[in-house]
Amino acid sequence: MSTYHTPVMLTEILDWLAPAPGKLFLDGTAGGGGHTKAFAERGARVIAVDQDPEALAECARVCEGLPVTLWRGNFAQLADATQEPLDAILLDLGVSSHQLDTPERGFALRYSGPLDMRMDTDSEAETAAELLNRLPESEIARILFEYGEESRSRRIASEIVKARPLKTTEDLVDCIRRAMPFRTRPGETHPATKTFQGIRIAVNEELTVLERALPAAVACLKPGGRLAVLSYHSLEDRLVKNTFNQLSGKRENSDLPSPSPEPPIVLEVLTKKPIPPTDEEQRRNPRSRSAKLRVAQKREN
Ligand SMILES: C[S@@+](CC[C@H](N)C(=O)[O-])C[C@H]1O[C@@H](n2cnc3c(N)ncnc32)[C@H](O)[C@@H]1O
Repeated sequence: MSTYHTPVMLTEILDWLAPAPGKLFLDGTAGGGGHTKAFAERGARVIAVDQDPEALAECARVCEGLPVTLWRGNFAQLADATQEPLDAILLDLGVSSHQLDTPERGFALRYSGPLDMRMDTDSEAETAAELLNRLPESEIARILFEYGEESRSRRIASEIVKARPLKTTEDLVDCIRRAMPFRTRPGETHPATKTFQGIRIAVNEELTVLERALPAAVACLKPGGRLAVLSYHSLEDRLVKNTFNQLSGKRENSDLPSPSPEPPIVLEVLTKKPIPPTDEEQRRNPRSRSAKLRVAQKREN
């Protein structure tokens, strides 16, 4: 298995999406190409999308000789990647192990690197350092609390503001170290994990992008086509659940206010509850632990 990234819930995703000759798939989060390769090896043509040039280069390497077309961009614009309606779309949200473990990308907690965290390295968007050096303390605390689910968000935000300007991931880890009890034992979750996650979600505007991408993805499916989303965070999962409910005409269990006019019913939700990875997968790949899979199918009429 590649060290770039181990594909999560591969067996389940292959079962739900059933890649086969004659089908056209879009992998909106190609990463190290794990899912893309498995789709293409089963005979589907695959459009592999990623906003990270390094990921697309790895995907091209892994999928050499297979019917895979690469498209560099944000999956919020996935309609631009194809004129043909799709049989299936996969969104495997968040960042890859390679991104997380490469110090120069600024996602790594355990090594010092520039505090960047942009998935699209060519984008003109603010880096994590620029964001943290600009925002008011209250907004930093909100990001850490909401997107990172970090209960010590206010104390960490206060240390960040005192330490400005931050430049490196080490500068950020030092702020967290000053704000809370700090132990980094092998096998235990690093105390900076939640803060880093919150900032990454803000830097890449991950929730806004997902909110735009889900209806766009459904519009690109053929009738009967399927959309599978793997999320790793409760806010992402709630957004997927609510959007699926809304587009399938199900109002109960939705946390969203009723939109007016009601959107047309275009989906059938196939997973009544989100599916977690098996215990065996969670043991084998601890990074899969928080994964939740939801699948929906575009209605035939
Ligand atoms: C969890 S990894 C996907 C791993 C992949 N399924 C595999 O098996 O190797 C997520 C990937 O999606 C990309 N990504 C995340 N959000 C994106 C977006 N909005 N548009 C395009 N790519 C995105 C990241 O750059 C990263 O490479």
